[in-house]
Amino acid sequence: MQASLVAEVNRRTASAPGRVNLIGDHTDYTGGLALPAALPWRTSVVATPLPNEVRVATTLDGEQRSDAIGLYDDASLAPPHVQLAQFLAQTQGQGALLSVTSFVPVGAGLSSSAAYCVAVALALGLKGDPWTIARHCQAAEAAAGAKVGLLDQIAALCGSAGHGVLIDFTAHTTQSVALPEGTELLIVDSGERRRLATSAYSDRRASCEAAERIIGPLARATRENLALLTDSVLRRRARHVLSENRRVLDAAQAASSGDTTAFGALMNESHDSLSSDFEVSTPGIDALAAQIRTAPGIYGVRMTGGGFGGCVIALAEAGASARLSLSATKWVVSPSSGATVDSDEHEDASR
Ligand code: GLA
Repeated sequence: MQASLVAEVNRRTASAPGRVNLIGDHTDYTGGLALPAALPWRTSVVATPLPNEVRVATTLDGEQRSDAIGLYDDASLAPPHVQLAQFLAQTQGQGALLSVTSFVPVGAGLSSSAAYCVAVALALGLKGDPWTIARHCQAAEAAAGAKVGLLDQIAALCGSAGHGVLIDFTAHTTQSVALPEGTELLIVDSGERRRLATSAYSDRRASCEAAERIIGPLARATRENLALLTDSVLRRRARHVLSENRRVLDAAQAASSGDTTAFGALMNESHDSLSSDFEVSTPGIDALAAQIRTAPGIYGVRMTGGGFGGCVIALAEAGASARLSLSATKWVVSPSSGATVDSDEHEDASR
């Protein structure tokens, strides 16, 4: 057969994990700090090039589905996961069949969406440093209507086994932080699914931006600057961001020195700040956190992620989680490695 008639199929497989945020929520979009960890649950995507179409084959709740759209068709009425895939495929100027398998719980605040976007982007062959890839994924989410920060994508890309990832969203740096010996991470699902999350998230983001117009970047603001915020709501929102950035630094320090008590106390303070100053918790999540906080062997517990439902995360003494009696679903997880391109196959389709 003539070489020109041989069609080459480039099939690429990539996977990316969900994340849990140990401390540092609602700090990413104002250039602050966070300390998430990648989860053992991953989303895997196999991408095979197609000329002008984006087709996403996935299994949701045991039901197989396949959705297709033209590479440059109006995707506004397509399901969100198809909009995200089309945006990322357009970045590459190439259609694709994307076969998706995911074990990241959906709607639980564990960033199933970022895991999906990062895995799709890598499977489509997007290249660059983690911040470049994360920004493409962030732009895809924005195009699909969610103006999120970069926490989830960077956690999915830069996670490392046994470690949290200290992220600085101004310096654009990451640093692995080992979790203290003899501890375990417990995730408990409140079962509350995040209603109104998008509009409330935008509202909190807008408040931070309004505060920044008065006192400048929150990442550099001081407690004295807070007094210039005469609106009490803006002041509380900004106070959360300032205190949370400080807690992230202190928590990274506590982890490095193996001070589980200090780490746990910072998690508790973070929860209280998110609940009272930033108002992104719910009565159900507050009650769950309060119940876990007093259990034996628990160092600290907090809501995790954007809020308005989802999960809480606790740092516990190794073995303590198994003794905790709860009606809610719970998982003991180990911080895991970040996203990978698992295979890059060049296959002669004429065979
Ligand atoms: C969501 C967003 C992130 C971040 C968190 C809150 O997970 O996707 O960018 O803002 O909320 O920390």
